[in-house]
Amino acid sequence: MYSRIAGTGSYLPEKILTNAELAEKVDTTDEWIVSRTGIRQRHLAAPDQLTSDLALIAVERALAAAGVDKSEVDLLIVATTTPDNIFPSTACILQNKLGVHGFPAFDMQAVCAGFVYALTTADQFIKSGAVKCAVVVGAETLSNLIDWTDRGTCILFGDGAGAVVLKASEEPGILATHLHADGRYNGILKTDARPKQGELVGNPFVYMEGNAVFKFAVKALAEVAESTLAKAGLAKSDVDWLVPHQANIRIIESTAKHLHMSMDNVIVTVAEHGNTSAASIPLALDAGIRSGKIQRGQTLLMEGIGGGFAWGSVLVKY
Ligand code: UT7
Repeated sequence: MYSRIAGTGSYLPEKILTNAELAEKVDTTDEWIVSRTGIRQRHLAAPDQLTSDLALIAVERALAAAGVDKSEVDLLIVATTTPDNIFPSTACILQNKLGVHGFPAFDMQAVCAGFVYALTTADQFIKSGAVKCAVVVGAETLSNLIDWTDRGTCILFGDGAGAVVLKASEEPGILATHLHADGRYNGILKTDARPKQGELVGNPFVYMEGNAVFKFAVKALAEVAESTLAKAGLAKSDVDWLVPHQANIRIIESTAKHLHMSMDNVIVTVAEHGNTSAASIPLALDAGIRSGKIQRGQTLLMEGIGGGFAWGSVLVKY
């Protein structure tokens, strides 16, 4: 039994913050941001828009694209680092907003690797026969964790959501998955705030050692791409599309080079929305499918990496 992608959907909030607008607030330039990251703008959730609100729109679009009624869904996983509340889970809140109840719903916290972690988990539920239709969402309102005076991080992140409907099928499907984590690197990318007796203690903003993260990401993503292909018995040349985590165009180019892939075979959306953490892969996937670039029967390699450190990849026959 395989998990097959039946449909995808995504949502970016209306408000756009351009590089030029950011350059009015911190000491940076459009030229610096574009050349170092590939990012041109990011979308910001409205003050009253929660992660579950963004997720709801993405899920409704994915269900419509899949031609699946919400009553058919029997598993919901939300990958997020910016949940609506400490608890209940954003998945339970989203399930209620969807108006369907009873089936398991839970959050997955693996930061920018959240979507590949969630997709891998849903795949296990489907392959084991436990569920027949899973909705996997990556959704973030990261703008709430950004120190808008820190030019090293505020230029990078944005808000958004993407969703995938997975159905059990005898036709492939998810071919191979590979997840990793190495907690020794938990200090180079973090938001270490926590509630304590009614107060928030620790830094509530994203802290990142950009250079160290960059180097780790380039190496880990190249390795995980190789091991996932080996697991599926496929060669680099069998991959039609790379659908990478959208953090930095230079990291994406480096992975493509390692796979001997032309950038023409890479879905790149980082310019439009920056790093949306767990939402970035499903946002790119949905853009690739809706633009007609990604066609049924093609082989896609998705891969993500982020705080933890946690990383992984999913190889799919679309
Ligand atoms: O999802 C995973 C999470 N994150 C990532 O994948 C991000 C990984 N890291 C990166 O994308 C890059 O490290 C950055 C884009 C964050 C930074 O690019 P870099 O090429 O690694 O620059 P750098 O940190 O080595 O900084 C170079 C210079 C420094 O100035 P000095 O010390 O050489 O004078 C920085 O202060 O650029 C300066 N700088 C900036 N200048 C203009 C840092 N941020 C900015 C800025 N505008 N926004």
